[in-house]
Amino acid sequence: MELNVYTDKKTVALEFSKFLAKIIKERDKVHIALSGGSTPKIVFDVLASSFKDKIDWAKVHFYWGDERCVPPTGAESNYRMTVAHLLSKIELPETNIHRIKGENDPNEEALRYSKLLDEKLPHVDGIPQFDLVILGMGDDGHTASIFPHEIQLWDSDMNCEVAIHPDSGQRRVTITGKIINHAKTVALLVTGAGKSEKVRIITQRESGYEAYPASLVNPSSNKLVWFLDEDAASEIS
Ligand code: 6PG
Repeated sequence: MELNVYTDKKTVALEFSKFLAKIIKERDKVHIALSGGSTPKIVFDVLASSFKDKIDWAKVHFYWGDERCVPPTGAESNYRMTVAHLLSKIELPETNIHRIKGENDPNEEALRYSKLLDEKLPHVDGIPQFDLVILGMGDDGHTASIFPHEIQLWDSDMNCEVAIHPDSGQRRVTITGKIINHAKTVALLVTGAGKSEKVRIITQRESGYEAYPASLVNPSSNKLVWFLDEDAASEIS
């Protein structure tokens, strides 16, 4: 695991954008799973403003690691946030955007998106493989939409599952550990003081760490890169 700590959220976004640009440059076609949350939002802003003309976007196919089960126009839609902060500002063919349809029946959508990943992504050892999965971590140690109370979803045989947010009861469609840990590279973007305790427990493997889904991120490629700000890293540095 590689742990990078930067002064603030903006610097995390800038450094991660450079990392992303390098991955895209090295390949002819790149499959990337995006995340929701506040850290990706600022990454999208940096990409749209400073990397708009520096990346050959036509090579990039965007997917989502998780989506809230709301219409694509809903305030909580990860797709809507990505359109507003990135997709509406760059040159990318519509056919390169593969969204999770939050407006569909969640169980049917989890199946449809599982099949879509099987069809669109290259397979390695029979499992679809992303070039890059971008993840965040919640204050409770969740990642993608796998929350501590449903940690068993991580080990599902399916590519995607339906998850339930512990407080709101909102349904979400999420990719599982099978897909996350099979990616060529996984980036965990974590910022803010609210994350510092879980960052310490998970990265130091302190007692009880296994209860947090983010601790299960462990790609077989060994390419796990944490991008932290000083607030999130305050208990480990
Ligand atoms: C979502 C997510 C989720 C998110 C974390 C961290 O759709 O909510 O994909 O896993 O990444 O909750 O979010 P913040 O970056 O806002 O802390």
